[in-house]
Amino acid sequence: MDLYSIVLFVHIVGALVLFVLLTVEGVGLRAGFPSAALNRVLGPISALAILFPGLYLMKAQWGWTGWVVVGIAAWFLIAVIGAGTGIGVMRGRITRQAATASWLIRVGMALGVVFDMTVKPSLLVSLGAVVAGIAIGGAVSVAGRRGVLST
Ligand code: HEM
Repeated sequence: MDLYSIVLFVHIVGALVLFVLLTVEGVGLRAGFPSAALNRVLGPISALAILFPGLYLMKAQWGWTGWVVVGIAAWFLIAVIGAGTGIGVMRGRITRQAATASWLIRVGMALGVVFDMTVKPSLLVSLGAVVAGIAIGGAVSVAGRRGVLST
């Protein structure tokens, strides 16, 4: 047990909280209950628990590798799109369809980042994983809109 492994643990807890929040948001969208208040409190905590330990891990061992750079960019986009969607939902300025598309795209991006963090591929493959996550999330959203997924 060393500092590195403890910091990695905090980083992974931050990532787990992100997925818990995404799950609550998705269930809320489906069942029609608001999740923006919870996300407003725990979202920034999760984001910081991911970023600062992540920067430490990068500096301690990995440097500016492609998967780290893609991870930082995706982390930023997930935070900004998530905050924008939450504010839009709270103010009634965004439709449920758009909020669902935003949610699916962020889930896809986050899964792409988990792939990058564990496999640690080249810049191109790292980028491809996140773009694939976005594309799959977008495709599921379009399929849902067209009723392909309804039973
Ligand atoms: C959505 C955002 C993120 C998620 C879901 C995420 C998730 C993870 C997970 C699950 C691991 C463990 C991989 C393993 O041990 O095999 C990991 C490792 C790592 N993450 Fe992240 N991460 C994110 C963002 C970031 C950011 C923004 C940085 C850099 C600032 C970063 C830097 C690192 C580093 C350097 C490791 C390697 C640790 C190691 O394998 O020893 N991560 N990440």
